[in-house]
Amino acid sequence: MTYEKLIEAAITAREKAYAPYSGFKVGAALLAEDGQVYTGCNVENASYSHTICAERAAVFNAVSAGARNFKAIAIVSEGEIPASPCGGCRQVLAEFSPGMRVLMANTKGQVVASTVRELLPLHFDANFLKGGPNA
Ligand code: THU
Repeated sequence: MTYEKLIEAAITAREKAYAPYSGFKVGAALLAEDGQVYTGCNVENASYSHTICAERAAVFNAVSAGARNFKAIAIVSEGEIPASPCGGCRQVLAEFSPGMRVLMANTKGQVVASTVRELLPLHFDANFLKGGPNA
């Protein structure tokens, strides 16, 4: 699976986005260590705060199918600059694979590459909880 193909999967996932309130459609495609791809899109709600972002939808889809280790995520949105994942999604991505690559793309084909660690330095994780190595 090339990163180009992963971005294509995110473009396809974006077509399913349910974003009647913001009009901002986002698609995500998560590449698991075993090569499987799990997708997600943002799903909004009339009670706005119950909206889920595309990235978290993709992670929950993958984890529900038994995948927990990821190599990369592609995120596709529209706009002049490819959208960067929100703080909540960064935390959810870091839970499973802080080293994963993050490919942010827009519908014009521009791509910005980073990693979860770079986007969320010093993230909170299980090590800080009681019983972990740092407790
Ligand atoms: N959104 C995502 O799906 N991913 C992001 O990285 C940023 C924001 C969604 C949430 C909401 O449905 C819409 O974009 C506008 O915030």
